[in-house]
Amino acid sequence: MNAVLIVGCGDIGIRVARLCSPATVAGVVRRPESAARLQAENIAPVVLDLDRPFTAAELDADGRELYYFAPPPATGDTDPRVAAICSVMRGAHRPRKLVYISTTAVYGDCKGRWIDETAPLEPGTARGRRRLDAERQWLAWGKQQQVPVVLLRVPGIYGPAKLPVQRLRQGLPVLAEDQAPFTNRIHADDLASACLAAMQHGADGEAYNVSDGHPTNMTDYFNRVADLLGLRRPPVIDRATAERELTASMLSFLSESKRLDNTKMREKLGVKLRYPRLEDGLAACGRELGCD
Ligand SMILES: NC(=O)c1ccc[n+]([C@@H]2O[C@H](COP(=O)([O-])OP(=O)(O)OC[C@H]3O[C@@H](n4cnc5c(N)ncnc54)[C@H](OP(=O)(O)O)[C@@H]3O)[C@@H](O)[C@H]2O)c1
Repeated sequence: MNAVLIVGCGDIGIRVARLCSPATVAGVVRRPESAARLQAENIAPVVLDLDRPFTAAELDADGRELYYFAPPPATGDTDPRVAAICSVMRGAHRPRKLVYISTTAVYGDCKGRWIDETAPLEPGTARGRRRLDAERQWLAWGKQQQVPVVLLRVPGIYGPAKLPVQRLRQGLPVLAEDQAPFTNRIHADDLASACLAAMQHGADGEAYNVSDGHPTNMTDYFNRVADLLGLRRPPVIDRATAERELTASMLSFLSESKRLDNTKMREKLGVKLRYPRLEDGLAACGRELGCD
């Protein structure tokens, strides 16, 4: 029997499985091609769509450590996938402990202030509202089923497979640096380590910000990635032009500015970041991608 179940076993799930020893891990994915990727990693695949009916036996979370990494659907203000899984994981079918990857969008816009986990939860986007709904569902379920629940609030994830290559190739513009919001990031490998630390040390009902602790602005990030990959730096526009020319989804990322304090993650979970600075994390991505 596998000791660990990762629901939504994509990029971060596979990194977590590698740290756990893959042979002890089962991973839930939706598509057969994702299942084949898990098999190649020696992770037992469970093909199941959280948007369709499924049973506790198919999921088989009983008594396991459960990492829940599936995103909410792309629309709406709630997360019906979390509702569906909570409805089957009851009684004998409960996992032992749950770690959930949420996002820092639950805080909404903080006007560039440094914030810790005590900041008010005031999401300004549907993306943030869906995540806050998911957090609340998990906490209510955990209390009712007596399963410890740990929430990780995660900003932009970057890693070799997660760089904005397409966006840079398309030549999409960025805001002038003096108008660009603060953004926070975490390297995919550091996030995977934080997930394991949360399973081991995370306190029931607590939320932890998982970030590298060195926020910059989005324009600086895109310029650095362009330089790393030998691509042209993106064109720069001002905010008024951005409001006319960018999509609603891109504008939603520019509408929020915050700097994340990661003290609780470091002190309570004992996470030691491998890449606290973006330049080191990007250099590691470059080595993995074979960039000179
Ligand atoms: N990108 C960011 O900067 C960022 C920031 C904060 C938080 N997050 C969140 O962090 C989490 C982990 O990220 P990641 O990079 O590992 O994501 P990922 O590589 O896209 O993996 C997501 C996984 O969820 C599965 N999934 C999606 N919908 C499902 C459904 N209806 N039923 C069953 N499985 C489903 C996918 O399966 P298939 O492959 O079969 O579709 C995939 O295995 C995600 O929730 C993501 O939204 C991301």
